[in-house]
Amino acid sequence: MKIISTISEMQNASQEARMAGLRIAVVPTMGCLHEGHISLIEKAKQLANFVIVTIFVNPTQFGENEDFSTYPRTFDRDCQICKDLTVDVIFAPQDNEMYHSDASTWVEEIQLSENLCGKTRKGHFRGVTTVVAKLFNATMPHKAIFGQKDAQQALIIKRMIRDLNFPVEMIIAPTIRENDGLAMSSRNKYLSEKERKTAPIINQLLIEIEEKLLNEQAISVESLKEYFTSSITAVGGKVDYIEIVDANNLKNITDKQLDDITNTEILIATAVYMNTTRLIDNQLILHNDVS
Ligand code: PAJ
Repeated sequence: MKIISTISEMQNASQEARMAGLRIAVVPTMGCLHEGHISLIEKAKQLANFVIVTIFVNPTQFGENEDFSTYPRTFDRDCQICKDLTVDVIFAPQDNEMYHSDASTWVEEIQLSENLCGKTRKGHFRGVTTVVAKLFNATMPHKAIFGQKDAQQALIIKRMIRDLNFPVEMIIAPTIRENDGLAMSSRNKYLSEKERKTAPIINQLLIEIEEKLLNEQAISVESLKEYFTSSITAVGGKVDYIEIVDANNLKNITDKQLDDITNTEILIATAVYMNTTRLIDNQLILHNDVS
């Protein structure tokens, strides 16, 4: 396994792989790899014969008061995990390799980024789309694997690929959870023992709301949101947002649409603070395939 830190060396390695007829898959990450990331890497191994994992804690997607400086960095452990999974290349550039000090070009999606995390994390998705575009240009993949855990991010990147004609096929892989339902996340490390015990309630409530949506008559979006918020507040959490949206355009679902949801793919998406730790999760209702 090669560890590459410059863009030019990465492009050369991908160019060589392409010339040798290999199919390249990339798994972009910010490191601190867990079972969620591992599932994406395994998927990449199934779909391609040259697998690149990128590890880069991207400064431009963190807000001023967010956790960029404290974000967990476990590079040696991550390398061992990738080696065990027979990854071909880790691309791990430094900040100044990815961003010139006078960088002034951004990639920005302006519709899907408005709702959900975009409301409280201004500029976050601009940082994500910019870095993913740059990672695509550095790694030149045929395929890119992302997780459903970050549903809004996945949809925005899919839109960016379409709108900017990136020759990349995007694959979205299911959310991997702990045994008690908590979605795996590098940020789970921040939770105290007590918060960790409480956190699975997020997933439990999302499932409950899904069941109510599918089985109960005459329910309102507001009552479901209130139920979620009061249940989270009761265990000491704070809801950043809870929304029920159309999974294809992230627009809020109206009560009228709830009368007949058989033709609408619905995403129930939330961000919850457990003390200072912000956790996101979602439940996708596809009607014939619930993941
Ligand atoms: P990061 O949070 O490290 O996540 C990297 C990839 O792993 C993303 O596609 C994310 O959706 C996926 N992932 C995280 N937790 C998961 C879980 N429990 N199950 C399945 N997949 C999971 O997302 C980012 O990094 C960054 O924004 C990035 C795209 C790398 C751009 O900087």
